[in-house]
Amino acid sequence: MATESLNFSFQGLRRSLNVSLSQYEPVLLVLASVATWIALSVTSSTLGAVYGSFSEKGFIGSISSLAVKLIRLLPGGAKYLNKEQKKVMDKLTSGTKGKELWATELPKQGLGPQVIERMLEIKKQDKPWEGRCSGAVYIGGTETEGHFRLVNEAYCMFAHTNPLHPDVWPSIPRFESEVVNMTASFLGSKLQASGGMVCGNMTSGGTESILMAVKTTRDYMKASRGITAPEMIIAESAHSAYDKAAQYFQIKLRRAPVADDLRADVKAMKRLINKNTIMLVASSPGFPHGVIDPIEELSALALQYNICLHVDLCLGGFVLPFAKKLGYPIPPFDFRVAGVTSISVDVHKYGLGPKGTSVVLYRNHELRKVRDNPGKYEDGMAPIYGAGATLPDRGTIRDILVDYMDSTC
Ligand SMILES: Cc1ncc(COP(=O)(O)O)c(C=O)c1O
Repeated sequence: MATESLNFSFQGLRRSLNVSLSQYEPVLLVLASVATWIALSVTSSTLGAVYGSFSEKGFIGSISSLAVKLIRLLPGGAKYLNKEQKKVMDKLTSGTKGKELWATELPKQGLGPQVIERMLEIKKQDKPWEGRCSGAVYIGGTETEGHFRLVNEAYCMFAHTNPLHPDVWPSIPRFESEVVNMTASFLGSKLQASGGMVCGNMTSGGTESILMAVKTTRDYMKASRGITAPEMIIAESAHSAYDKAAQYFQIKLRRAPVADDLRADVKAMKRLINKNTIMLVASSPGFPHGVIDPIEELSALALQYNICLHVDLCLGGFVLPFAKKLGYPIPPFDFRVAGVTSISVDVHKYGLGPKGTSVVLYRNHELRKVRDNPGKYEDGMAPIYGAGATLPDRGTIRDILVDYMDSTC
């Protein structure tokens, strides 16, 4: 009955449309259809671009870049903007006027050991930061005393090593493995809740640890869930390293506002989850406000949607476990929390190690093994520079490089 009445009203609509359109030439109707189709495609791509711009740059960013574009279109607008841009550049470079010029070429005569004096002279321009530069360097004391001096001594001992050559420097992978294991051990790796498979490696800093964790998650979610247009969800308070990761590894970044208490807003993050979401991010604490995100709630969300959760412990990794031991009421933040799949933790912050040392940890090898990495150096072309000597006219390479260096390497 319902189908019949639907059919009846469709026939009626069809008849009345045919009657009213019969007064137009067929060619006009074709042209009108094409024009409508073009108008709809232009509108949909414009709306798509506006939406893309808003989700990438945010409201203020999109409005300002639109305003700049509009000003450029006005008569004299481009000239005005160029003048303003020049003013800013002049202001930025004015500080160098009248100052000694920086070297741009190798000096004719080398400085020899005097280079140290020269560097000490230039170093005087730096601020006396020792122990008082939170957010940049974390080591206390002075370069010539105590822990600071010890770290410098150890650093000097290994300044000329290359971890890509464990056959030459087996000490390096040993140290790396020890630092990774020790760090993991106070982030829950020895507890049953972690699954007992926590693994990781050292990187050059918090940013690189975050980059590695994001890339590994992307590769893992592609291999395990077939996600090829990955998206990650962060709170607005997350570190800018996630913007870098999104750009480097072609991941769409979705930013959720923080709640009134400045912690990540779990509900807002939940609203951004879709079939392409590979991961959520929590900071403990975050870079701008120093507050700890609700990690257990985010973990429950990650488990519910079968996605990963990275915890940024770059700043807190060497503080929270000890603060907890001292009895501070700190909610769980590490591999004890079931949904946490990776952690970044900086040795060069409150680990009081030298710049740049950080650790990235994964809950298990399943996650880590899918990393698309360039392979062990044995799999590629090893740097046997002397091999050049077997090619015509390449003998000098061997003379210069191999004979000069200790060719046992
Ligand atoms: C919470 C947090 N995450 C990541 C980073 C980035 O670390 P890095 O400066 O070592 O790259 C920082 C740096 O201060 C940080 O505080």
